[in-house]
Amino acid sequence: MRRADHSADLCVNGQCYAMPAPGAGATLLQVLRNDLALNGPKYGCALGQCGACTVLVDGVAARACVIAARGVAGRAITTLEGLPARCPGNGNGGALHPVQQAFVDAQAAQCGYCLNGMVMMAVALLERNPDPDEAAIRRELAGNLCRCGTHVAIIRAVQRAAVSLRQALA
Ligand code: FES
Repeated sequence: MRRADHSADLCVNGQCYAMPAPGAGATLLQVLRNDLALNGPKYGCALGQCGACTVLVDGVAARACVIAARGVAGRAITTLEGLPARCPGNGNGGALHPVQQAFVDAQAAQCGYCLNGMVMMAVALLERNPDPDEAAIRRELAGNLCRCGTHVAIIRAVQRAAVSLRQALA
C-alpha cells in the first residue's frame, strides 16, 4: 500500500510501503524477505557477524538481520534487487549494476551465499571511493564471510567493477 507521507513507511528500492505487521518486532531482514519477497539479502548468522544480509540504508552498508524494520522507517533502503536502477545511466533497471556484472564476468561465486553481502559492500565502497586500491577493498570486505574461499576472485571482481563504473561516469 502506497501513501503520501512516507515517514512511517518502509521505503525500499524506490517504493514505499506501509510497515507490514508485526512491524513492531520484526527485523528489516524478516520484513524484506517475508513480507516484500526481496530475497537478495540472505539469512545467515542473524547476529550481524557474517554480512550475508547486507543492504544499503541511505547509501551506507548495514546488516538487515540486526536492524528493527521500524528503526529505518522513512529511510532509503536498497537491496540487491534495487541495484540496477541505482547505477548512473542505468535508470531502467533492466540490466545488472556494473558491480553485479563484474562478479558474473570474474566468476566470483561458488555457493553464492556471501554474494549479496560482497556485492552490496562493494557498491557502498565504490560510491565512496571510485578507485580503491587492493588494501582498501580487502578492508571493506574483511567482515563478510565467504566459506568457499572465493576471496581472490571477489577482489578481482571489485577491481573490475571499479573500472567499469569509472568508465560509465566518464
Ligand atoms: Fe546478518 Fe549474518 S545474517 S550478518
